[in-house]
Amino acid sequence: QHPVTIAPSILSADFADFGREIRAVEGAGADWIHVDVMDGHFVPNLTFGPATCRAIRPHITTVMDVHLMIAPVDPYIDAFAAAGADRLTAHLEAGPHIHRTLQAIRAAGVRPGVAVNPGTPIEAVFPLLDMVDLVCVMTVNPGFGGQSFIAARVPDVARLRAAIGDRPVKIEVDGGIAPDTAPGVVAAGADVLVAGSAVFTGGSADDPAPYAANIAAI
Ligand code: DX5
Ligand code: ZN
Repeated sequence: QHPVTIAPSILSADFADFGREIRAVEGAGADWIHVDVMDGHFVPNLTFGPATCRAIRPHITTVMDVHLMIAPVDPYIDAFAAAGADRLTAHLEAGPHIHRTLQAIRAAGVRPGVAVNPGTPIEAVFPLLDMVDLVCVMTVNPGFGGQSFIAARVPDVARLRAAIGDRPVKIEVDGGIAPDTAPGVVAAGADVLVAGSAVFTGGSADDPAPYAANIAAI
């Protein structure tokens, strides 16, 4: 058993084969499935929306961890909740009323998380710690898989850990996680590691053994 939760991002999976990719990576040891929703507006890339989330939901036996890189968020909360998200994480930077957004996610029956970009002071999430289940610390600028890890963010993970104290709030770290970067963020206090390109490499749904080796190496 991993000391931390490993959440492979299907952003790096075969988009034509999500169902089999999800089953392969869960069989390879994934603890959660991380689902990156992008709108071409909040971030400079497009992925998919609630209909795809609904379609992949039956293939996920672990946790559907939905990372919303969209603005605005509020008009879509009910659709993502109805699609079966277990967790909905919205960006602090996605609008002027993140507090309201997090309230609305919880009211929809989904565990709320707040994500924070590399350029935002980590203290900006401190007023929200009593209303979230998770803080997602971005260690790349969101929008694409396979980018370089921003190591300057690691001390902020430790400061966040101290600010959380004994609250039941998980720290997720997203972006550039690989065998060489994971130990530092775990030492700083991360509970959940998102990894896309580092997991979905060298294998496929037909040949998932490399996925298992990749997860074990993180
Ligand atoms: C980036 C996404 C990440 C991404 C991570 O915008 O939020 O979840 O898939 O990909 P890697 O692990 O390749 O940096
Ligand atoms: Zn993500």
